[in-house]
Amino acid sequence: MSPAMSGAVQAAIAAHRDRPGALLPMLHDILAALGHVPRACVPALADALNLSRAEVLGVMSFYHDFREHPPGRHVVKLCRAEACKSMGADALAERTRARLGIDFGQTRSDGAATLEPVYCLGNCACAPALTIDGRLHGRVTPTRLDALLDELDGDSR
Ligand code: FES
Repeated sequence: MSPAMSGAVQAAIAAHRDRPGALLPMLHDILAALGHVPRACVPALADALNLSRAEVLGVMSFYHDFREHPPGRHVVKLCRAEACKSMGADALAERTRARLGIDFGQTRSDGAATLEPVYCLGNCACAPALTIDGRLHGRVTPTRLDALLDELDGDSR
């Protein structure tokens, strides 16, 4: 582990080790500090919480937010849950994949963008919804999607 990684892990452990359900807040702290949760953190977290490494990895992989690798400069999260699907999210997903040239869970080779699925953003009334760098967009039409992705392209150069 790099010094930054080790520092983030030790700080997360120190902050939460005595709380019930400490693993999730630890993972959130590491994510906030590093932008991802490297697999190298798993042994230290497992030891601190007296859990198996498989248990820690199971939680990390269940929650999509705990990505193992650093994200691209922009993170696009498309809602893949039912309300958004019923309002055209699948077509938006295809369009986004084609525009970015990556699938869900991937980062472009130029580091410009990461595409991630999310399962409800609490914005179902304004489906289909997505976030870009944490900013929520609702009622996203294909035209609006293109405009948002154009902004990313302009920002990436
Ligand atoms: S289902 Fe997409 S925001 Fe709730």
